[in-house]
Amino acid sequence: MTIRMDDVHFTYPGGVKVLNGVSVTIQPGEKVALVGQNGSGKTTLARHLNGLLRPATGSVWIGDWQTKDHSPAQMARRVAYVFQNPDEQLFHQRVWDEVAFGPQNLGYSPGEVHIQVEQALDLMGLGGTSNFNPRDLGYSGRKRVTLASALAMQTPVIVFDEPTAGLDSKEQEQFSKVISLLHRQGKTVIVISHDMDFLIENIDRLVLIVSGKIVLDASVQQFFEQDQMLKASGLIAPQIIRLSRQMGHSHPSTSVEQFLDTQLKQSI
Ligand SMILES: Nc1ncnc2c1ncn2[C@@H]1O[C@H](COP(=O)(O)OP(=O)(O)O)[C@@H](O)[C@H]1O
Ligand SMILES: [Mg+2]
Repeated sequence: MTIRMDDVHFTYPGGVKVLNGVSVTIQPGEKVALVGQNGSGKTTLARHLNGLLRPATGSVWIGDWQTKDHSPAQMARRVAYVFQNPDEQLFHQRVWDEVAFGPQNLGYSPGEVHIQVEQALDLMGLGGTSNFNPRDLGYSGRKRVTLASALAMQTPVIVFDEPTAGLDSKEQEQFSKVISLLHRQGKTVIVISHDMDFLIENIDRLVLIVSGKIVLDASVQQFFEQDQMLKASGLIAPQIIRLSRQMGHSHPSTSVEQFLDTQLKQSI
């Protein structure tokens, strides 16, 4: 399901102009990150993908559906969106009900809902918490409940707004595995994050937003070669990139393996 945003402009009621002509195409099965400083418009852009927000001018297409012609409930068939702040998203008293809400609304049978909920809970390390009140879990537990809620919907596109904020390193590793699994299933994964070390390991393409405009859209390798642009936008490159530069490599490495390979060749 191809995603296409075409010259999208958006202003919040009250006059804050946030998106200033965003155009981007994302092919099915891509793993893409939206990056940029706080307030640059990442969340606003993400909320256009599932129709929670609609463009003032321009268009947003998810496959052959334009968001302006479909309700957010319909869009939820195609795009699941996980809120940046879990407490804005959670509203059930039991973890199981919270995670089941999406697939139930999409019309899955009780048997299918059961399987999808159990799988999603398991993927997010929440097995055994079905009867808990999400509010009794810590921040990372609440965050993982919202991630599980999106996974349980089994949509072709899934948008994670700052998914790793508040997760410990083991939970982040578990979430990396979830991203690879979704990728193997052919789903489109869109991640908003400030964690460049996480992104370089899990994402193929990066889109940089500055003041509601896309200023750079490139593969991970090419993205981090734009040193000046990243500095000007206040982004700090991942450690492996900084290390490559310090070692004088002509092209920054995006993985430990690539780094060692370049280093070995350089020292021969
Ligand atoms: N509901 C809202 N009403 C008015 N302004 C908002 C609202 N949500 C966000 N904004 C403003 O829009 C701008 C972009 O916000 P946001 O999309 O959340 O950026 P990001 O996710 O990149 O931090 C900010 O200036 C923010 O204050
Ligand atoms: Mg945000």
